[in-house]
Amino acid sequence: MKKLVMIVALLAIPVTAMAWPWSRDLMNQPSIKPQEGSVINYPPNSVPVGGLRTKVADRDAAETMVNPVAPTKKSIRMGQALFRIYCMPCHGVTGKGTGPVGKIFELQPADLTSDYVKGLTDGWIWGTITFGSYIMPHYGYDTTSTERWHLVNYIRHKLEKEPVAKPTKGGKK
Ligand code: HEC
Repeated sequence: MKKLVMIVALLAIPVTAMAWPWSRDLMNQPSIKPQEGSVINYPPNSVPVGGLRTKVADRDAAETMVNPVAPTKKSIRMGQALFRIYCMPCHGVTGKGTGPVGKIFELQPADLTSDYVKGLTDGWIWGTITFGSYIMPHYGYDTTSTERWHLVNYIRHKLEKEPVAKPTKGGKK
């Protein structure tokens, strides 16, 4: 009897084991998950619906790019809106690298108002957003090329120039 129980128990294991962890079963699909675009090889002669990320090879190649978008009020305003969606969680509303999500990283998010970032080229910042950095994730699939230049304009012409105060209480920004 003991033997039979053992055999039944052993037979039951692989079924359970293979399905573990059950809570993630539906997550493991061939669909593209957020921020996972780069692993996909598109079929020949096809273009993804959202367009290609960029023709620029990598961040090094982007370094000498010249910002084609004039820093108009409208561009800076667009940049600010995008910044608050994509960058603020880590770099903070002031850009000083004190966002709540940024705290979890071993290497802290860069202070975007620092002399170090002021010394980076516009192209390098655009490339950092497009391709990510050492720890920082890439946002090349989430933003268009022009949107990334708006972000550069916001950093250059607003964040670096006039420190932004924390949002006032009551949610007014
Ligand atoms: C998930 C957190 C996170 C988000 C979101 C994020 N960053 Fe970063 N960023 C970091 C971290 C961490 C570093 C420093 C380490 C590194 O270079 O990877 C960094 C570094 C940088 C640097 C300096 C790169 C260098 O060469 O040293 C720039 C510029 C920058 N971020 C801009 C941005 C902009 C603009 C956005 C929004 C589009 C953004 N970051 C969104 C985490 C983030």
